Amino acid sequence: MESVVGWAEMPVAEWFDPGAAMQDPYPQFERLRELGPVAYVPAVDRVFLTRHEVISDAERRPEIFSSQSESNLTMVRALGSRPMLRKDDPGHAEERAAINPTLRPKAVKGLWSPRFAQNVERWIDHLLEIGPQEADLNRDFAAPVASQNLIDLLGFPQDVSVDAMARWSTSYIAGIGNLLDDPEIWRRCEESQTEVDALLDDLLPQLRRTPNGSITSHLLDVGLPEESVRANVHLTISGGMNEPQHMITNLVWALSNHPDQRTAVLSGDVAWGDAFEETARWQSPIGMIPREVVRDAEFHGFHLSSGTNVGLLLASANRDGVVFVDPDRFDVRRTARGHLAFGSGVHMCAGRWAAKAAIADHSLPMLYSRIPGLDLDLSREIVWNGWVFRGITSLPVTW
Ligand code: HEM
Repeated sequence: MESVVGWAEMPVAEWFDPGAAMQDPYPQFERLRELGPVAYVPAVDRVFLTRHEVISDAERRPEIFSSQSESNLTMVRALGSRPMLRKDDPGHAEERAAINPTLRPKAVKGLWSPRFAQNVERWIDHLLEIGPQEADLNRDFAAPVASQNLIDLLGFPQDVSVDAMARWSTSYIAGIGNLLDDPEIWRRCEESQTEVDALLDDLLPQLRRTPNGSITSHLLDVGLPEESVRANVHLTISGGMNEPQHMITNLVWALSNHPDQRTAVLSGDVAWGDAFEETARWQSPIGMIPREVVRDAEFHGFHLSSGTNVGLLLASANRDGVVFVDPDRFDVRRTARGHLAFGSGVHMCAGRWAAKAAIADHSLPMLYSRIPGLDLDLSREIVWNGWVFRGITSLPVTW
């Protein structure tokens, strides 16, 4: 065993229970940080990096912690081929450079913000139609608005439904996390790939003739092979909806549970952008990201063997008391710079400015301005789920 992961020299968290983590991962993350910066976790056969310092360091050393994994292939299978997120530089950099121009702050402000504003208005109308007895903020607002924003960002035709986009995204996310090889999950991924590929069969020739500034259009513009274009469209579908959706509900949930902080934000004392960053730190939508050790290495006093599967616990780093004072406390005034909710290093989230604009400039301010009494409906059940990808799957609200 030592030759596989070198775990004889490192702490072993034989108590880590992925089932319990689905309900609330934070108590186990705290125990892991106390155990050490690095720990082997038999339940998922992975070495976890648990603290902010070691995770940031690993992201600076892709020559050891590779994304071009040959054994972590669930993402490649879920999406039908290998996207930029499962490549190292220089292959990754070429694909990433294609989409950066349309996702930088200037493009987000000029091109996408007006669309986000329209989408938010439209889905607040829908929420108001559902009414304060029945409304579920996840189902009736966060999911469709995140879905419509992504339809626009990808340059997909406007007759693509928000439900279809949500279904594709959910099936890909389930596939990426399908470590237990559930055949039904693979079936749903393949169905989604077929539907998206049929759509791209029509769309790609149109965008070649008439570029439209979208992510898909930019991937084509730089002359990438069509397989890479498709892989990265599937990747963007998987990551571009689920996390923004969760950030919207997490923010409303966090502010409702801290009414004094909600007042500070609504009165303008604290910027929406700061509330967004603190929520991303405190309830991170992506809890863990995978890497593979590709050469034997000494790392912070531990031996890691080539071939070891590693999990970088972003959500745990974001509760590290060495970096964040009183880390379990939600505090919109702390200006939570340095959190790792969007990753770090070369794969740091390409869509972070778009997500922040959509949520902190539009979704949340407009929600509270059009529905000033918006609050949780505690007579109905709130459901949280997941620890690798974590969010609220049902958030009953009233006003
Ligand atoms: C609040 C919302 C979001 C969160 C928390 C989030 C989080 C992340 C994280 C942690 C990574 C790094 C994964 C890794 O290194 O293994 C990532 C990468 C990525 N994200 Fe996001 N994301 C969000 C929104 C978006 C949106 C809206 C888009 C697209 C419009 C997007 C597109 C991407 C892409 C393409 C990558 C891969 C970048 C690369 O490999 O260089 N994300 N995201």
